[in-house]
Amino acid sequence: MLEVKEIKLVREDRKILNNLTASFEKGRVYAILGNNGVGKSTLSYVLMGLESHKDYEGNIFLDGEEIDLLSVSERARKGISLGWQEPVRFEGLTVREYLTLGGKLKLSEEELDETLSTVGLKKEYLDRFVDESLSGGERKRVELASIILLNPRVTILDEPDSGIDIMSMEMIEHVLERLRDKGSIVIIITHREEIARLADEAYLLCGGRMLASGVPEEIVSFYRKLCDSCQHVNEPVKEGGLAND
Ligand SMILES: Nc1ncnc2c1ncn2[C@@H]1O[C@H](COP(=O)(O)OP(=O)(O)O)[C@@H](O)[C@H]1O
Ligand SMILES: [Mg+2]
Repeated sequence: MLEVKEIKLVREDRKILNNLTASFEKGRVYAILGNNGVGKSTLSYVLMGLESHKDYEGNIFLDGEEIDLLSVSERARKGISLGWQEPVRFEGLTVREYLTLGGKLKLSEEELDETLSTVGLKKEYLDRFVDESLSGGERKRVELASIILLNPRVTILDEPDSGIDIMSMEMIEHVLERLRDKGSIVIIITHREEIARLADEAYLLCGGRMLASGVPEEIVSFYRKLCDSCQHVNEPVKEGGLAND
């Protein structure tokens, strides 16, 4: 189980994450739904422990162990994996090298083929380079394949459909199924209702706070009602700072 307790993060006197609390169970897919600028990518960086975002307040527990002091690579070793909003690019690395971590992951051809097919790529892609010769959407697919093959304990996907056409909703559904079957804690971050509907549970994020949680359909309907009229302004820090809120 991943537990996030009262996370606060301030940037330029604004509370980008504001007392954010949530919990996530193994083998379930969670959507974090929210408009642009509400703090979705920021939350993914805090969970991953990026150096630029280590100044958050609050606590993160993975299966009861507090991980706040762990670096990004230590968190990666604990099995936390982040699919970035921007597609990956690795000059000089083939898809096969990328997926097998340069040969360190021993994977059968079947496993590689099957995973590429889950993300909608032919096996000929194994010899292509993970650079600009692949489209953004193709690099996204390669990254999703890599995440599946890593068997993460926690999978965070930040806007997994960005750069991928709408026809690929089914592909994302297959990816989520694979991760769910592997028992990962899956968190998909999105501003799209159709993606949120693929989850087992959803949270509504607004102004850095979790406003509501529940079944995706219910949260999507809150999103429509509440978020259209909302300005999504991040609250300024009051005098006295965060501790006195
Ligand atoms: N380093 C930063 N300095 C100032 N403001 C920031 C910084 N990083 C993010 N923000 C602001 O925090 C808010 C949330 O950003 P982000 O997490 O990227 O939103 P989302 O992914 O939900 O679109 C935005 O208003 C953004 O401008
Ligand atoms: Mg974002």
